Amino acid sequence: MKPKILVPKGFNEEAVELMKETAEVHFFKGSTPKERANELADADAAIAGGVTEELLERAPKLKVIARFGVGYDDCDVDAATRHKVYITHTPGVLTNAVSDLTMLLILSLARGIRYADRYTRSEWEKNLKDYPSSGSDLADKTLGIIGLGRIGYEVAKRAKAFGMNIVYHDQVPNKAAENDFDARRLDLDDLLKQSDFVTIHCSLTPKTTKLVGDREIGLMKRSAFLVNTARGPIVDQKALTKALQEKRIAGAGLDVFEKEPIALDDPLLKLDNVILTPHMGSLTREARRGMALMDAKNISQVLKGRVPDNVVPEQRGLVVTKE
Ligand code: 8YV
Repeated sequence: MKPKILVPKGFNEEAVELMKETAEVHFFKGSTPKERANELADADAAIAGGVTEELLERAPKLKVIARFGVGYDDCDVDAATRHKVYITHTPGVLTNAVSDLTMLLILSLARGIRYADRYTRSEWEKNLKDYPSSGSDLADKTLGIIGLGRIGYEVAKRAKAFGMNIVYHDQVPNKAAENDFDARRLDLDDLLKQSDFVTIHCSLTPKTTKLVGDREIGLMKRSAFLVNTARGPIVDQKALTKALQEKRIAGAGLDVFEKEPIALDDPLLKLDNVILTPHMGSLTREARRGMALMDAKNISQVLKGRVPDNVVPEQRGLVVTKE
């Protein structure tokens, strides 16, 4: 009997065809975590998130869960290791897409694109008021990058091309970024004090949850902007909302939120000094195709008895055999 793989409805056809070479591919029918867990009970592999001990206990045949994304903060990796299940993810293929969106938010904040669009549609012809020259150049401004890994590096590359100075905060030095972009490593407080734009690119862990809270926002310049395309809970959203309402920082560009989708009555939606996007960092055709093919390859490797290429860092070196 062929192994069974479960994938989300409408999953990339090319990737589905690839997986069909080694397995039967089924589409998830349910949409709630509980319904999906039930469907996983007799599966060998899945493209999914939300991996919990309970889910793993009920899926004895499961060998691999491929996360459709680079972040896997919704997966209990320790539990997966105990249950001899590989967790794979999709690093690299979405780096350009997320870095582009980050740059887009930085530029849009610097030039007040939300206001410009509104003004052009409703006020320009009537000339109700002169257009304010309140935008700022990026050249010679300081960009503070919190978490300088793959995505942080690509953001630094783009920002450097715009003439920005790069500072960063990370647990480990990034020598490539220091050499290539003169990036300077700072502690978090100094980065927040010195930066004109702060952008977040670390992963969400217990240590980085609410890393940027009221105290940290208070260290930022009144003229500075905060961009988050990583994970919502890294920022204390309530504290950020208050700081934006009180204009203690100039603005924010947010692709991610503490709770997604963000509620329509969330106070952030009422503010003019924020640009909001719906967790679309990796939503380009190129990134999504790359992610789908990477997931398909990782699953096929496991089903052929191999170690998958893109196992999460905590499971590197892990060799699992499971009938
Ligand atoms: C996805 C992401 O949109 O890669 C990530 O970590 O957050 C995004 O690429 C998300 O994983 C949805 O599956």
